[in-house]
Amino acid sequence: MKRTILISGANRGIGNAIAISALNSGHRLSLGLRNINSVTGTVLDPEISGSEKIMLQEYEAKNEYLAKEWVNKTILKFGSLDTLIHCAGIFNRVGFLYKEGEDKAINNLWKVNVMGPWLLTREAWSHLVKSKQGRIIVLVSMSGKRSKGNLAGYSMSKFALMSLCQTMRNLGWEEGIRVTAICPSWVNTEMADGIKSIVPPEMMTQPEDIGTICTNLLNLPKTCIPFEMQVNCSLEI
Ligand SMILES: NC(=O)c1ccc[n+]([C@@H]2O[C@H](COP(=O)([O-])OP(=O)(O)OC[C@H]3O[C@@H](n4cnc5c(N)ncnc54)[C@H](OP(=O)(O)O)[C@@H]3O)[C@@H](O)[C@H]2O)c1
Repeated sequence: MKRTILISGANRGIGNAIAISALNSGHRLSLGLRNINSVTGTVLDPEISGSEKIMLQEYEAKNEYLAKEWVNKTILKFGSLDTLIHCAGIFNRVGFLYKEGEDKAINNLWKVNVMGPWLLTREAWSHLVKSKQGRIIVLVSMSGKRSKGNLAGYSMSKFALMSLCQTMRNLGWEEGIRVTAICPSWVNTEMADGIKSIVPPEMMTQPEDIGTICTNLLNLPKTCIPFEMQVNCSLEI
């Protein structure tokens, strides 16, 4: 089945690899970007791959109005939507004993990593229900499964996102909506730049492989969708 997919964070990193893989599989894409010029001249540019296959829309995860507008414009252009892939996200190292003023960074994690996917899914929900075969893929993290070291803020946001995934699964089940929370450890993107001196980039999960996971997931029937996928590049016991 050819799907109409909203993807956030598609201009770089994991979202970019997923968008390219989905495009190559023949799906229609609606990409929400903070800067719509950030894909100009690439295969995700509608001028290059065709405006019948791709549309671009301004999207800032912290802005509820832009989430609404993105969904509405997608319906105007493609007539329906059946899939959401949440890739927009931020990382920071705010620890448990955070310093004065760092609460802003914690709020930012909350707004982008948790409320962003929540607002967008809420706006798209009626369309996912209408399609009777809605799919939601969320880039959570292994940091949403276990809290490592002192990454208090990031991990808190990803545990909360995982909880949201479980609720979406519960609410959507009878409507044919299936949710998959993808939980990688380190993926070779800009987000992981800070640890590339410790884990060499080639030893990390590659974003293109997450792209393949996502397009394979979209080929599966609703009777065979994993709720959670832990993707490890090193042994975790
Ligand atoms: N890389 C890893 O090791 C790893 C591991 C586990 C989970 N994840 C999760 O996977 C997702 C994608 O990560 P990545 O590695 O691809 O990160 P990345 O390379 O840093 O890319 C982040 C993406 O999110 C977008 N974004 C950031 N803040 C946004 C906002 N306020 N509104 C809208 N878009 C925003 C960025 O857009 P701009 O270009 O405009 O900034 C960019 O497209 C994230 O949720 C991350 O937590 C990553």
